[in-house]
Parts: sequence; C-alpha cells; structure tokens
Amino acid sequence: MRIRLARRRDAPALTAFNRAMALETEAKALLPEVISAGVRGLLARPASGFYVLAERNGEVIGALLITKEWSDWRNGDFWWVQSVYVLPAHRGRGVYRRLYRHIQRLAARRRSVVGFRLYVDHDNARARRVYRSLGMKETRYAVFEQLKPGVRFYQPKDAAGSSPRGRRARKAR
Ligand SMILES: CC(C)(COP(=O)(O)OP(=O)(O)OC[C@H]1O[C@@H](n2cnc3c(N)ncnc32)[C@H](O)[C@@H]1OP(=O)(O)O)[C@@H](O)C(=O)NCCC(=O)NCCS
Repeated sequence: MRIRLARRRDAPALTAFNRAMALETEAKALLPEVISAGVRGLLARPASGFYVLAERNGEVIGALLITKEWSDWRNGDFWWVQSVYVLPAHRGRGVYRRLYRHIQRLAARRRSVVGFRLYVDHDNARARRVYRSLGMKETRYAVFEQLKPGVRFYQPKDAAGSSPRGRRARKAR
C-alpha cells in the first residue's frame, strides 16, 4: 500500500468517494456538479488544504482531506480531518490507520500544527471506535451550522426517491 498526496487527476476518484460516503453515512445523494467542483476547487487551492490517498496496485482505496483552522488559544492550526473514506472491500485492514499515521508524521514536522479535530455523526459507531482506537478523544463540543439560503449540495430524498439505507451510520457535514 502506498500513501501519497492527491493530484488533480485524482479528482474523479475523490468525487466518487465523497458521493459513496455521503450515501452510506447520511443517506444523502450529493449533487455531482457541486461535489465535483468542490473537490477540484480544493485541489486547485493548496493553501486551503490537501487530500491524502491510500493506493494499492494503482487503485485508490482510501482517502482523507485536511483543512486548517486557526486556534488563538493555542497559537497554532488544528488540522481538521474530513471526507474520510475507505472502500468497503479494504476496511478493517489498517488503511485509515496508515492514512492517519501519515498525517501525524506530516504534522510532527510543522511547528504551527497543534493537533487534529474531526466531526462524526453520533450514530457512526464504527468510525467513532476507529478514531478512539487511534488516540483521539471525544470533546464536549457540539457542531452548529446555518447554511445561507439557496445553498444546495444534495438531492433531497423525496426528489431522489432514495431509500433510507445507511441511516444507521450518519455523519453531519
Ligand atoms: C471508518 C473507516 C474510515 C475506517 O477505515 P478502516 O481502514 O476500515 O480502519 P482501520 O482498519 O485502519 O482501523 C483503524 C483502527 O481502528 C480499529 N478498528 C477498525 N475497524 C474497527 C471496528 N469495526 N470496530 C472496532 N475497531 C475497529 C482497529 O483498532 C484499527 O487499528 P489496527 O489496524 O491497528 O487494529 C471506514 O470504515 C469507512 O470508510 N467507513 C465509511 C465512511 C465513514 O464512516 N467515514 C467516516 C465519517 S466521519
């Protein structure tokens, strides 16, 4: 298995991963044109963050996204771990562990980075266990958000006619 930074040509794989993850963990059908532009937009703006990929025999089998958030309390950046996805056939074999250890090594070399954060749906028991087992602690913070009117990023269920599949492991985005 090889761990590497994503390049622009990885955009289709990353887009597919995000669509699969949203469907599996939140039963949301992401709008193809929005998620595709979102992935390509990040890859075109390295100052906003970076994707790290796990590759096996030339196939991308797992990925995560790192974005930064300044912490004035700590005088440094948190690296937020987002868009975590491992292909089902490769789960439970240490792919995410390798991705996470890789970004820990990258962060160890940068004095400006103070730690990692992520948000995960309360019902996503497997992901919560995985994060705990790799040393992360749950915080007392809850995530609030308010989208601006008109922001659309997934096909509402009634319009898509999709099933409630994946409800058990939802993740707020
Ligand atoms: C959550 C997810 C990323 C984990 O990826 P993975 O490659 O299967 O995880 P790993 O095999 O690297 O597991 C890491 C550690 O977690 C633990 N772990 C793994 N699967 C576990 C499980 N089902 N139950 C309990 N602990 C588990 C193990 O201790 C493992 O460490 P080890 O390899 O040293 O034994 C993957 O299941 C996934 O893509 N799920 C769907 C999408 C999702 O939920 N994304 C996260 C949204 S926040």
